[in-house]
Amino acid sequence: MTDETLSNLLHEERRFPPEKAFADAALARPELYQAAQQDRLAFWDEQARALTWETPWTQTLDWSNAPFARWFVGGTLNVAYNCVDRHVEAGNGERVAIYFEGEPGDTREITYAELQREVSKAANALLGLGVEAGDRVAIYLPMIPEAVISMLACARIGAAHSVVFGGFSAEALRSRIDDADAKLVITSDGGYRRGSPSALKPAVDAAVVNTPSVQKVLVVQRTKQDVAWNDEKDVWWHDVVDSASDVHAPQAFDAENPLFILYTSGTTGKPKGILHTSGGYLTQTSYTHRNVFDLRPEKDIYWCTADIGWVTGHSYIVYGPLANGATQVIYEGTPDTPHKGRFWEIVQKYKVTQLYTAPTAIRTFMKWGDDIPASFDLSSLRVLGSVGEPINPEAWVWYRKHIGGDRTPIVDTWWQTETGAIMISPLPGVTTAKPGSAQVPLPGIGVDVVDNDANPVPNGSGGFLVLTEPWPSMLRGIWGDPERYKDTYWSRFDGIYFAGDGAKKDEDGDIWLLGRVDDVMNVSGHRLSTTEIESALVSHPKVAEAAVVGASDETTGQAVCAFVILRGDAGYDESQAEAVITELRNHVAKEIGPIAKPRQVMVVAELPKTRSGKIMRRLLQDVAENRTVGDVTTLADSTVMDLIKKGLGSSS
Ligand code: WTA
Repeated sequence: MTDETLSNLLHEERRFPPEKAFADAALARPELYQAAQQDRLAFWDEQARALTWETPWTQTLDWSNAPFARWFVGGTLNVAYNCVDRHVEAGNGERVAIYFEGEPGDTREITYAELQREVSKAANALLGLGVEAGDRVAIYLPMIPEAVISMLACARIGAAHSVVFGGFSAEALRSRIDDADAKLVITSDGGYRRGSPSALKPAVDAAVVNTPSVQKVLVVQRTKQDVAWNDEKDVWWHDVVDSASDVHAPQAFDAENPLFILYTSGTTGKPKGILHTSGGYLTQTSYTHRNVFDLRPEKDIYWCTADIGWVTGHSYIVYGPLANGATQVIYEGTPDTPHKGRFWEIVQKYKVTQLYTAPTAIRTFMKWGDDIPASFDLSSLRVLGSVGEPINPEAWVWYRKHIGGDRTPIVDTWWQTETGAIMISPLPGVTTAKPGSAQVPLPGIGVDVVDNDANPVPNGSGGFLVLTEPWPSMLRGIWGDPERYKDTYWSRFDGIYFAGDGAKKDEDGDIWLLGRVDDVMNVSGHRLSTTEIESALVSHPKVAEAAVVGASDETTGQAVCAFVILRGDAGYDESQAEAVITELRNHVAKEIGPIAKPRQVMVVAELPKTRSGKIMRRLLQDVAENRTVGDVTTLADSTVMDLIKKGLGSSS
């Protein structure tokens, strides 16, 4: 990469050292880095000992068949026992595990003792339906406690779950059920979304027509909406789970017993079934959850706003927090139902101490205005987390100021479905934070940024993010496709894991994530990151959100095309379009350099996002290149592209 990649990000000079009181009391100590450096495997042994094992392991890591890892070889444990029963046995059965907040305002409080009974009942019911250790169970549920209970019930009996996000279509569900050969599907009549019941079962009905592996469909009643019923396959949760015995003796399984498969999209069409196993995964999710969020299970109220259908929901709603005996909030609905202050109302109501959410949500809140969070009491918050995409410095600073009361540490956590747990993140109370940078690998994790030939780049330069050492929660493969696993992650550079992300090291060696390498543009032979330019745009007071794509250009190879949503208070009307566009182009030129000046800036009302909140730049690229817009089926709102095209048509 050239010097031109050194962006406005590197000019970000604000620093947020830990407050002394926080640092003095922090769970994470600087010595963790030294311990891990001295003996990485001994360090992981130590973290694994925080779990309860039935049989101790005899070898920490077996990497002899790389890139297929085995961690804690010979060890056996039960994941559900670790997440539930052991807290009850330790005398914490009356501690609340889950404060459930339904979108319509209904609530449930589930203690660890109750969770133990619920998970046991569900485990007994699954066994009664013929599910055995080694089978796969597909879960297609809204964000309700039964989703957590179902996952833990699978883990308890040694079956792997494959959770499919409730927003996916029947066809997406079908292909995932089929690929995993699932024996059972757990679903519900529906869930509440944006103020009304939204059906789930019809998609399952349509999917299972063509999935011969599925023997039964277990249906939770959530909304009481009408459902079609197949007497041979369908069973109600309240019939078979409620009547099952609430006692179930958990059996220990091998540390490498599959825990779950989670599908994620790759560069090609077919989603990859990312396989995670038990001992290493639980070790790293619980260790990172404690240290990155400074978790005090006796007094904290933790809230992760992710959906259980994504890896963040798996690792930081279900496995990490529950293994740590945390008390957490689970919210079913959307942030603007019934009003745009819903998140802050929940923080205030439960006195949430840790909030873990995504940059796209943060930018949305910025767009909605500072006065909304300002009208709630957010003083309980101690640590704020960000995940899923690079967080631009302006959003970071806004998050800290308007949500964190200019007080809380922010942890910008980089990881992937494939890594299973957080890999790069500041440690609260230890790291002096830099807005926009995920900064440093966690203790025990090996990260580098390399050039095309796998040479580590010097500080101040960019390249490809790689993971240089195997880690406990690493994916164990792609379900049913070992070759694709090797090709995708281990063939780009010999013997090191290729993450698919661009990154750079600043002068201190801290890491700045620059987005997927497929989103890096090449303009006149200079590499530019979409994220970088977006960050520059969002740093302009008139811009709420921005997405940048590289559109092919005869002269420069690619040209920078920006789509922006202006802030509501920007006082913008159509007559000023030209002036605002010029202002923004000049702003980018000023922030990064003339090379980054967008060829086009298009003012739009919405951006196309997937259901997990990622901007689909591919579709914007189609618009920028005047092509027919491609497949919009994975968009959260498939009409957004029509709106964008119509808006641009009418203004030009
Ligand atoms: C991106 C989500 C910058 C990155 C946990 C990665 C991030 C992909 C960050 C994985 C972050 C995630 N800063 N980029 N803090 N966190 N990403 O599998 O491109 O849904 O490769 O896992 O999200 O997305 P996934």
